[in-house]
Amino acid sequence: MSASLEPRRPFFLDCDTGIDDALALGYLLASDTVDLVGIGTVSGNVSAERGARNTLDLLELSGRADIPVAIGNAEPQRGTFDGGALHVHGANGIGDVLLPESATPVVDETAAELLVRMAREYAGELHLVAIGPLTNIAEALRLEPQLTTLVKTVTIMGGAAMAPGNITPVAEANIGNDADAAAEVLAADWFVTLVPLDVTISHRFEESDQRALVESEQTVPVALGQMLDFYFDFYVGTYGERASALHDPLAAAIAVGDIALKSAPVVSVLVDDTDGPGRGQTICDLRGYLVGFPEQPGAHCRVVLSLEQDFAPTLLAALLTL
Ligand code: BDR
Ligand code: CA
Repeated sequence: MSASLEPRRPFFLDCDTGIDDALALGYLLASDTVDLVGIGTVSGNVSAERGARNTLDLLELSGRADIPVAIGNAEPQRGTFDGGALHVHGANGIGDVLLPESATPVVDETAAELLVRMAREYAGELHLVAIGPLTNIAEALRLEPQLTTLVKTVTIMGGAAMAPGNITPVAEANIGNDADAAAEVLAADWFVTLVPLDVTISHRFEESDQRALVESEQTVPVALGQMLDFYFDFYVGTYGERASALHDPLAAAIAVGDIALKSAPVVSVLVDDTDGPGRGQTICDLRGYLVGFPEQPGAHCRVVLSLEQDFAPTLLAALLTL
């Protein structure tokens, strides 16, 4: 990527690293307008502890062991962590690719504490990107109710507006794995950009993208390309061929402001936190779709439904700079 004249802006990433989380981390590290000031991990694709290990190893590989990583919640607000999505992301969460182990320890704070500290340090400036279950974010809101004004933007990969869910017929994983936390975070008094399955499933890496990463002979892109092998196998069940959805990196790129949005109405969004079959559903009020989504008083969630262009080439170009 060419050097930008824009000053770098502080970003905080909360993740459950995960193959597509690794792509999102790569995207943020590649951006010359982003200063990644902290990372929290949460149980989702893998345990919060395993997610932190993967994150530290990826940072070491990228020469960015200076970025603080904090382990967050091991368990959702209610119930217990189900062990993760190892069938999607591999037993170690990163497609069973073995990275050199980083010797850098996690910081001596929880993910919520680190987020609150960074939000105070960069008051009014911090961009929050959440690409795992929202357990840590809900905890941070309880720790510091002013978080809603301390943070400048909030971008969440999660939910399914009109698309089906991916862990139940209606629930997407990041929302469904802690529906209580998600309900709190989406009801809080801040503006949220939600990047749901509707758009993330429509943008994908093909085998040619994976080949470009692996054949680059650059350490980080090669490792990311190798991880995609496992992810591609899982997505045969979704797409009928080897490819991968670009959930988390798309949310990261939208948070950075690199992507032109085509349809992204600001509407009311409620999370179903009941114990019925709708648990984890993001109920988005899209009734105005035939008339250009008229303003909904009180709505504070922008739901990204489509983009102006294909995201894959942007992502590939960014990752190849690592
Ligand atoms: C989301 O769930 C996780 O498996 C992915 O990392 C992504 O954040 C997609 O539903
Ligand atoms: Ca994730």
